[in-house]
Amino acid sequence: MKMIFLGPPGAGKGTQAVRVCERLGIPQISTGDILRRAIKEQTPTGLAAKSYIDKGQLVPDSVVIDIVRERLVQSDCANGYLLDGFPRTVPQAQALATFADIDVVIDIEVSDEALTKRLSGRRVCLACGGTYHVATLNGATTCAKCGAELIQRDDDKAETVLNRLSVYHAQTAPLIDFYTEKGLLKAVDGAKPMDECFNAILNALGV
Ligand code: AP5
Ligand code: MG
Repeated sequence: MKMIFLGPPGAGKGTQAVRVCERLGIPQISTGDILRRAIKEQTPTGLAAKSYIDKGQLVPDSVVIDIVRERLVQSDCANGYLLDGFPRTVPQAQALATFADIDVVIDIEVSDEALTKRLSGRRVCLACGGTYHVATLNGATTCAKCGAELIQRDDDKAETVLNRLSVYHAQTAPLIDFYTEKGLLKAVDGAKPMDECFNAILNALGV
């Protein structure tokens, strides 16, 4: 199954993607995670992307389209994949349609107020992509899955979060209509507890 997780920053795309991919045995392809790794390794792509990400702006379409095009030809994508955070603009969706046949788009919906609270307390593991919230970490500072140090993302600062939300409404939300018109969109309520949200996604996928 080839699927897209659409939704605003903090909706739970990454959290749910890890579980869905584990269940279905397909790779999670998060353009955000790929870019953050490139920044950490100081590759040319990472150096170019950093200034956009730090401001809460989108990285140019051509950069992320090339990243995804190259990733989807790898052998682990042969039986399907989950795109987490791509596409994020109409031009990205149009480019994707030239090299991939998407089966379903899951739109995870959460209000802006709830998103702001989630992102301010988020902690992430750069090594394995694990995602946590300070409210449930009980003071732990390392990843429960792989033991690496947890960090707060630079773009989870309050003013950058507001910018990311407005970028989402202006540039990414139009994809809801784009994929509805293609008959591919299924919406789930991302404000529900994580397990309920996970079950709603499995239902929407019919698995
Ligand atoms: P990216 O890393 O994709 O960030 P994002 O879209 O802003 O989404 P997030 O990762 O912030 O949120 P999420 O939906 O994954 O939520 P999560 O599961 O972590 O992109 C970062 C940047 O890279 C972009 O701003 C852009 O600059 C660039 N970029 C990436 N892709 C691009 C593209 N295609 N084009 C151009 N630029 C691109 O959960 C959030 C928090 O909520 C966690 O603390 C979690 O524990 C908690 N939580 C999750 N679910 C629930 C729940 N049901 N109830 C309560 N808490 C919950
Ligand atoms: Mg994410």
